[in-house]
Amino acid sequence: TATISHKEYDAIVVGSGAAGLFCATKLSSLGLKVCVLTKDAADVGSTKLAQGGIAAALSKEDSPDLHFNDTLKAGAGLVKTKMARILTEEGVKRVIDLIRMGANFETNEKGLLKFTKEAAHSVARIVYYKDKTGEEVERALLDSYRGDIIEFAEVKELIVKNNRCYGVIYEKDGKINAIYAPVTAIATGGAAGIYLKNTNPPTSTGDGIAIALRYGAKLQDLEFVQFHPTAFCDDSECFLISEAVRGEGAIIVDEQGRRFMGDYHHLWELAPRDVVTRAIECQKKICGGNVYLDFRPIEKKGIDIFKRFPTITSKLFEKGLNPKKDLIPITPVAHYYIGGIAVDSFGRSSIEGLFAVGEASCTGVHGANRLASNSLLECLVFGERTAYGMYRDWRYLRQDFSPIGIKLNQKSVLSNNKFSLKEVQEIMWKNVGIVRSAESLTKAIDKLSEIANSNSDWQVRNGAVLGLAITISAMRREESRGGHYRSDFPYEREEFRKHSTFTLSDLERL
Ligand code: FAD
Ligand code: SIN
Repeated sequence: TATISHKEYDAIVVGSGAAGLFCATKLSSLGLKVCVLTKDAADVGSTKLAQGGIAAALSKEDSPDLHFNDTLKAGAGLVKTKMARILTEEGVKRVIDLIRMGANFETNEKGLLKFTKEAAHSVARIVYYKDKTGEEVERALLDSYRGDIIEFAEVKELIVKNNRCYGVIYEKDGKINAIYAPVTAIATGGAAGIYLKNTNPPTSTGDGIAIALRYGAKLQDLEFVQFHPTAFCDDSECFLISEAVRGEGAIIVDEQGRRFMGDYHHLWELAPRDVVTRAIECQKKICGGNVYLDFRPIEKKGIDIFKRFPTITSKLFEKGLNPKKDLIPITPVAHYYIGGIAVDSFGRSSIEGLFAVGEASCTGVHGANRLASNSLLECLVFGERTAYGMYRDWRYLRQDFSPIGIKLNQKSVLSNNKFSLKEVQEIMWKNVGIVRSAESLTKAIDKLSEIANSNSDWQVRNGAVLGLAITISAMRREESRGGHYRSDFPYEREEFRKHSTFTLSDLERL
């Protein structure tokens, strides 16, 4: 047992993306003393990188019902309908709140919101700001939040006793510290960063999900990973080319210049993401060579692609590509983590006092495949609801609350560099990626177990623990559905039309 410095708050929020900040801002407005901890600079995370926009039924042609139906359809039979109703109905109010908080979205000459389209949406319903919606949302949220924030504070452990959470342990400037609070929310974002090729920032390593698992929280739907069909990758990096580019008219062609998506789905380039992803992989195999995105049809519609997509087009220019003239080689990469910490509609996990929100959580609202631009919306809608859930529980949990003694997990402090995160990423990409099989998954389980049980760096072991949990869940789901595709079970099977859960005992049984 070691003595370490500590502070006390009413509420802790781990993560400063859209989910964490929306939740923390609401908690502050409810009068709670809040501390946000974040492992990098405050604005670093997936939120800042979001391009396409936020989906909500704000246009005259739209309704929460239509949005609900599209969400259900994309989710391949696994969307929790109660959660989808909440998302699509409350979503309208939360986007209005966000505008009131100062976020700018594109408007027409009459000052009315403009809407763009993305895959599997039946109407244009996505509000956006150029191709940098996330940057604008993150800016507005950081400007609005008035509570404490500790940057470069990496949360490594929870303080849990008898299935109740008392706070977190974090490392800052090489020092270990503790913060206690009756209620804590994990808003650490997704886990696509444990895949070699991904669109995410380096912070998306699934930290909060793996930590919650280690302390006994129930996780859900871990096998579902969303691979985005259109990223640009070279040897140095991968970056996203927004689905909004296809929404505005871009098409996908193969090495022979043939537009092939119609062979796979009647919605062509705007089919659900998992369908487009697998079609591209399949076409590369059948025809050989690359698959390309052709921006030129957008220009033919009179839209200036440099103005509409300034970030994407300037990134492509850096790579020596001019989308007004050149076909852009694309490849599907890991993009969004559908699974996460199982929560109820107020963000409560299975550990008392512990909540989860945003990409780190799993409400079941995305089913097996998330509808584009529903993620930022989820951060807002469930960010607010999680704040109310925390406030409610704080009122009684604070009655008998006192800081408890901490036993530091030596492995989180002492480590060597036996393995690197890159090894975890390579295993996941090769064996637990777009196409999986019992054979590939078995290989991954063996290698990831060795890393998870090693003395490697905390981040590496954490990634391996989550990777292992994803792999075991993928092994158990002997069917293909949404973001989970098994070459040895290539169809949906009715008996698997249910959510999967995962706890520490599933790892211990290994
Ligand atoms: P993040 O925004 O990722 O925030 C997580 C926070 O947790 C960060 O502050 C991070 O530093 C912190 N953190 C992580 N681990 C720790 C730790 N151990 N200790 C302390 N802090 C920690 N969705 C849409 O709806 N529309 C879009 O247009 C869209 N475009 C996207 C484009 C890209 C390139 C990407 C990557 C994603 C996109 N998404 C989009 C998805 C969406 O951006 C994310 O799902 C959403 O922003 C997640 O928000 P979050 O708050 O849960 O996590
Ligand atoms: C994109 O702009 O294609 C990403 C949208 C999303 O992930 O929801």
